[in-house]
Amino acid sequence: MRALPSPHEYRAVRERTLALAAPLSAEDCCVQSMPDASPTKWHLGHTAWFFETFVLAACEPDFRPFDADFRALFNSYYHAVGARHPRPQRGLLTRPALARVLDYRADVDQRMARVLASGQAAAVAEVVVLGLQHEQQHQELLLTDIKHLLWCNPLAPAYAGADSVPPLRPTPAPLAWQSWSAGVVEIGHVGQGFCYDNELPRHRVYLEPYALATRLVTNGEYAAFIDAGGYADPALWLSEGWDWRNAQGREHPLYWQCGEDGAWQEFTLGGRCTLDAHAPLVHVSLYEADAYARWSGARLPTEAEWEHAAAQAPKLVQLSQLEGDVWQWTSSSYSPYPGFQAGPGAIGEYNGKFMVNQYVLRGGSSATPAGHGRASYRNFFPASACWQFSGIRLARSG
Ligand SMILES: [Fe+2]
Repeated sequence: MRALPSPHEYRAVRERTLALAAPLSAEDCCVQSMPDASPTKWHLGHTAWFFETFVLAACEPDFRPFDADFRALFNSYYHAVGARHPRPQRGLLTRPALARVLDYRADVDQRMARVLASGQAAAVAEVVVLGLQHEQQHQELLLTDIKHLLWCNPLAPAYAGADSVPPLRPTPAPLAWQSWSAGVVEIGHVGQGFCYDNELPRHRVYLEPYALATRLVTNGEYAAFIDAGGYADPALWLSEGWDWRNAQGREHPLYWQCGEDGAWQEFTLGGRCTLDAHAPLVHVSLYEADAYARWSGARLPTEAEWEHAAAQAPKLVQLSQLEGDVWQWTSSSYSPYPGFQAGPGAIGEYNGKFMVNQYVLRGGSSATPAGHGRASYRNFFPASACWQFSGIRLARSG
């Protein structure tokens, strides 16, 4: 049985969320820039709702919700919990005011401190741990969503907390290849530490000989793909990807724009700046990643190839940028591992029901909270998603 997090561990995660929101105005916190993104205020409310709904309701003898209306308002996708406010309309919630949502968080935190200190939450320790991991996932989403919102503003404002998301580290040159021979390998979580249900069970996979690029694709390399007409050649694109490129009128990555001097600029959490040709490429869709890989005579790795390599990374010093730079698209559909079982009750809705029409990303980004990722971690998004911190590591067969 998992140990109950200490009040200190709980507070550290919860306070970081508030710190990420602190540089934002109440207006920044309310607006929803697109249906896929959520307002900061909603992230703040929803992460408190998770603890109130799944921990406090289970272990407070005299449980009373902070506000009965919040049960539906901040329910993301849990049918077992009941009604949900429609996701595309989260930005219409001018009420409750930000101050009231912050009061909600403070109330939940006080009550959580009580049940953690008294041991009342011991029976749901696994859910408390999940709640903290969930909150860390939303910390990254808060940043990706606020970045998209600020980019939509013609003033191109900087997120004042940009120091909490360090600029991407320059990519080590030159690109080399690390090879593996064929064989049966094991993937999936191993050990006693936390993992999500979608990382289990650990199982065997047969891999043909493959090689992974020792580093990520850079902005400069991707600019060469654009210059070579990469966005104009349907032969490089998946059919659905070509349709997406045309429907969007896409000719470059999401946050790039051509400056008056003809040089590429990039919108970052620190505002608009000149594109760093040596930094890892970020904010591409699976379609773009796949087209770039084809253009360069390579392909995207499968998630099993990526994980097998990452598990050995400490011994392979030349394999760099596996974690903490950008999420790396894989060609693997987000599917259940053989023998996968979702957890019981509402918590079972956390991962399993999303295993359709999405692709797995590996590695974690500069916006992923420290210590949140691991080699077996499976992130997942639709092929068209590019507002996440997603980039490319190339693979080759043979
Ligand atoms: Fe959530």
